[in-house]
Amino acid sequence: MFHAARLAGLGQRRLAGGCRAARCPILCYLIAMVSVVLPHHSYEVTVESGALSGLGEQVAGRASAARCVLVTDANVAGLHGEAANASLQSAGFEVLEVVLAAGEANKNLDTVRSVYDQLLDARLERRSPVVALGGGVTGDTAGFVAATYLRGVPFVQVPTTLLAMVDSSVGGKVGVNVPQGKNLIGAFHQPVAVVADPLTLKTLPLREMRCGLAECVKHAVLRDPTLFDFIEANADAILAISPGVIAELVERNVAIKAAVVIEDEREAGVRAHLNLGHTYGHAIEATTGYGLIQHGEGVALGLIAAATTAAQAGICDAAVAVRIRALIDRLGLPVSADLADDATLATAMQLDKKVMDSKIRLVLPTKMGAVTIRDDIPVSQINAGWRAIRK
Ligand code: NAD
Ligand code: GLY
Repeated sequence: MFHAARLAGLGQRRLAGGCRAARCPILCYLIAMVSVVLPHHSYEVTVESGALSGLGEQVAGRASAARCVLVTDANVAGLHGEAANASLQSAGFEVLEVVLAAGEANKNLDTVRSVYDQLLDARLERRSPVVALGGGVTGDTAGFVAATYLRGVPFVQVPTTLLAMVDSSVGGKVGVNVPQGKNLIGAFHQPVAVVADPLTLKTLPLREMRCGLAECVKHAVLRDPTLFDFIEANADAILAISPGVIAELVERNVAIKAAVVIEDEREAGVRAHLNLGHTYGHAIEATTGYGLIQHGEGVALGLIAAATTAAQAGICDAAVAVRIRALIDRLGLPVSADLADDATLATAMQLDKKVMDSKIRLVLPTKMGAVTIRDDIPVSQINAGWRAIRK
């Protein structure tokens, strides 16, 4: 593993969003730090191949406690749990490992309750950090426990899916699902650190990898045309998890997410831009039965639909939708699906929790790298979006 100290003098680069990255002389991407600077709480996101072996040092540097909790899921425990646990122990922590059943169905209050019980039985104290090792389900659940146990304990995110690295681990949204809907019970609880090791993606199933890529394309469309170019140019290397390219992909996406969160921590404004493609995507997921089309696949379809609606509404060039569709196809994500009829999809859109005053608020691209929020789009133009992705 390459440590930051060994990189001194190899050249640093700064990007928007408070990002520093270092490259070795042969231009291999080694380590990047993205700062999330917030009024009451700032932290660093470390993106480094091999970072898992330095996790203990990172946690020890931010939480002074004898014990910590490592929360992971049953899949990740067998793949990366030992490395994380060993690193925490070698930094001096006594580790309480909590293994959750894997999958979205377990992101609920029963799981939270069972974690509380384990922490209470172990008499975990207020300074002991909760370390979440896994995808967004683990991060959201463990983060909600960390936000509420003893009125809040330090929390470290160690994302192991692409989606969690580029999206859910940054920004402090934590919570669980209830029968009435997804993510309806939650809190804002910013982590004290995020440690992303792109090498952990080597074990991620390809379908999950692709779902994370949908969020990367979303970030590019809403903020960064050069990121879109980068994904287009490196699609094969990205799908092959080529270490340097993946590390750069993660760092650039984290920088975008961080910049949005810095601007609008509590989603009073621009953070809503991150819902690009999601209002369509949620309606697709809800009407096809949760699980059949995965969230990232719904987002991919939603990006095409949103760009098509934007073109129909005359706020974006039609070429943008064509380019988005081609990239999504190239990444192996779906570009069409068996969809319900327009009226059923419209009802599902109305149930989206981002609806305000009964108006559907759509995030729509205005050009590659920029979006706007509109609540006045006629149904016929929304339906043009559905037509573009209906099989
Ligand atoms: P996930 O956590 O269920 O992970 C997907 C699957 O991959 C699981 O089966 C998991 O066990 C497995 N896995 C994880 N890492 C692995 C690895 N390295 N190797 C092999 N298998 C691995 O799902 P996700 O896609 O990471 O996250 C989705 C969740 O994130 C949803 O609940 C969503 O609501 C939430 N989310 C939250 C935010 C936020 O801001 N908090 C943002 C976006 C999404
Ligand atoms: N994933 C949306 C957000 O963090 O706001």
